[in-house]
Amino acid sequence: MPPTILISGGAGYIGSHAAYVLKQQGFEPVVIDNLSTGNAWAASFGIFEQGDVGDVDFVRTVCEKYQPRAAMHFAAFIEVGESVTNPAKYIENNRDKASRFFKTLNACGVKKTVFSSTAAVYGDTSSVYSEVGGNGPISEMYPTKPINPYGQSKLEAEAYLRMLDADGMRSVTLRYFNVAGAAPVEAQIGEAHAPESHLIPRLVLPLIDAPADLVEALGLRKGFTIYGDDYPTPDGTAVRDYIHVLDLIDAHIRALNYLLKGGATDIFNLGSGKGFSVTDIVGATRKALDRPHFSAGFAPRREGDPAILVASSVKAGKILGWRPSRSLQDIITDAAAWHRSSLYQDAMRAKLGLAG
Ligand SMILES: NC(=O)c1ccc[n+]([C@@H]2O[C@H](COP(=O)([O-])OP(=O)(O)OC[C@H]3O[C@@H](n4cnc5c(N)ncnc54)[C@H](O)[C@@H]3O)[C@@H](O)[C@H]2O)c1
Repeated sequence: MPPTILISGGAGYIGSHAAYVLKQQGFEPVVIDNLSTGNAWAASFGIFEQGDVGDVDFVRTVCEKYQPRAAMHFAAFIEVGESVTNPAKYIENNRDKASRFFKTLNACGVKKTVFSSTAAVYGDTSSVYSEVGGNGPISEMYPTKPINPYGQSKLEAEAYLRMLDADGMRSVTLRYFNVAGAAPVEAQIGEAHAPESHLIPRLVLPLIDAPADLVEALGLRKGFTIYGDDYPTPDGTAVRDYIHVLDLIDAHIRALNYLLKGGATDIFNLGSGKGFSVTDIVGATRKALDRPHFSAGFAPRREGDPAILVASSVKAGKILGWRPSRSLQDIITDAAAWHRSSLYQDAMRAKLGLAG
């Protein structure tokens, strides 16, 4: 029997890619997901058990049945804007249920956990960035000062997980943001959020001739809007870090192997080290999809959006040997291939109640 790895949130975007790669690498993924935002069709690698990470009996039963060697925790709500309007939803799911999950794992003897956190725990890092001449990705030493409940809920879950170290739980917390792209289309997984708030799918979908009713139902028909053109950045639009989902999963598997070999509890930032402004991304998409006439509109800043978030991965490079290898161009073209697929379009039509 190959070693089993428990993957919470494995019916979601990133978790399904983790299950896909783990399966390829000889592990047996055991996905647990309550399908609150995920998709049953994405939980197609290994074993799938439907349930909630906050349900102690459910998690205990799954652990007793499959005896996982380790866990990867992806299950969470991820909408920054929604976290500002409904913070309790985020604190309950991302902090309280996550903490209960970690506690149950620990009690069941699953003593190695890779936690999918976010660079949103750092808050607005613009000052650090500008201090070093516009070229200073943030390291793990940077103080954590989240500016939205999403970042706060993840930071508090991190703290709970690290506290369990005293009881033998070894964990790696990975902080990242703006994951995009997809596995090769044959894998039949990719980003399928509804609503879709992430930049690259929002840009790509209207440009690949997806059916008009689908584009409209996802709220993307009226063209692409850039929120804020008055940030303290070189072109005034927000600067972010983008990682290809397969590079990200490579880091998760390195973190898993690090823990399986006896590595100590630690935190790593994962980023490309390069900041791209929203205007840069619009330009790269225009080029990758050959849409020379495409342009974006502007609207005011959204609450809770920092000016600059760019993570340094120097520590992950040194200790985990991780380096992202895929370009922004790869990210955009792989995302476009996935969003063009009939699996994505049919699944979203069904989810949004559109006629088949
Ligand atoms: N997508 C990004 O760009 C990004 C960036 C930084 C960090 N993250 C982190 O990565 C993780 C995965 O993000 P994603 O984009 O794949 O999100 P997603 O919404 O696609 O997947 C999350 C999955 O978790 C499940 N889930 C949520 N709450 C649950 C619960 N209580 N019990 C069981 N299952 C539950 C959902 O059904 C869904 O399948 C999250 O923890 C998020 O904070 C994502």
